[in-house]
Amino acid sequence: MHLSEREAVKNDQAEAIDRIPVIAVLTANHEEIATELRRIAPMADIRGPGKLGDPSEIEALVCWKPAEGLLGSLSSLRLIQATGAGVDAIVADPMLDPRIPIGRTIDDAIADGMAGYVSWAVLDHFRTMQTYRADQRVRRWAQVEPQAPSQHTVGFAGAGELGLACMRAIAALGFATRCWSRTRKIGLPDGARSFAGDDELGAFLGGCNALVCLLPLTPGTTGFLNRGLFAALPEGAHLINVGRGEHLVETDLLSALDVGHLARATLDVFSSEPLPAAHPFWSRADVVITPHVAARASAREVAEQTLANLAAVRTGRSPRCAVDSRAGY
Ligand code: NDP
Ligand code: OXD
Repeated sequence: MHLSEREAVKNDQAEAIDRIPVIAVLTANHEEIATELRRIAPMADIRGPGKLGDPSEIEALVCWKPAEGLLGSLSSLRLIQATGAGVDAIVADPMLDPRIPIGRTIDDAIADGMAGYVSWAVLDHFRTMQTYRADQRVRRWAQVEPQAPSQHTVGFAGAGELGLACMRAIAALGFATRCWSRTRKIGLPDGARSFAGDDELGAFLGGCNALVCLLPLTPGTTGFLNRGLFAALPEGAHLINVGRGEHLVETDLLSALDVGHLARATLDVFSSEPLPAAHPFWSRADVVITPHVAARASAREVAEQTLANLAAVRTGRSPRCAVDSRAGY
């Protein structure tokens, strides 16, 4: 780069740093996030649904899933801040310019929320709580001898921010743990095992009494929870899907439950949300349904990370928890 070009870049950066941020917040809880943004940056120009003004002025977009065609109109966009951990709906947008940095919002609320949800799901099945709830309805007193948690292995498909937070929580409850990811992990809880890559998937699955899916949704993970995978799990395994509905081949799950190979599925995410009223999952005792509530980042943290990430990209740095656009997560 010539000296004059360097000077021009420096001037652009200085101007960008001083400029009042124009941030569009297009989420279901946009008012909450906008309030937090205004609290931290009273000068910021915060725009919400129906009040976008001139789209070419918008510098940062806070969203979960961009409305169709929106990204194509934001010609000054420098940052997309996802309100949560998953960015599949953003990455899949055909109008996305892959050069625009995307920040994911990871905070204690989302990590603790997910660890709490997964701990509940594992314990609810492991301690046969569903049986006790049914017994209570008929005033039946029948004790089930609990198994030792150390004899029950909980496996995590996906060992990222949330997979590892859950793994630590589950290990602290005394369960054996293992994880599977693209790259091998170190620094895991005592006794935990890391499996990496497709070659080690079979060995990983063979030891999972409960399998927790915390993968991101990418072309490589779509349909991951399928017939072949279920067959590789031990008889009586419990599936917990908190990743995305599209990870699961629903008909394969129903078959694996019908033949008793899987004992239960706890599902928080579905390929069609809200889950349609006529869906066969609703009426099954061996499927536990929650309406995509496992974990959420706080509005305050979304606002703080948006402003910090905008400051970063204005000076040529990457946002925190940046998405690798080639990997898609
Ligand atoms: P991260 O990006 O931090 O971690 C993703 C993990 O998946 C990494 O360990 C990664 O491996 C692994 N992975 C990705 N692709 C593959 C592959 N092809 N084969 C094997 N491993 C793979 O994600 P988070 O932990 O932050 O979040 C995970 C997902 O949880 C989100 O994408 C979202 O879909 C879901 N979620 C659901 C919520 C809910 O309420 N139900 C709330 C929040 C998130 P490596 O480490 O080697 O890169
Ligand atoms: C997320 C989610 O990805 O809520 O954060 O699903």
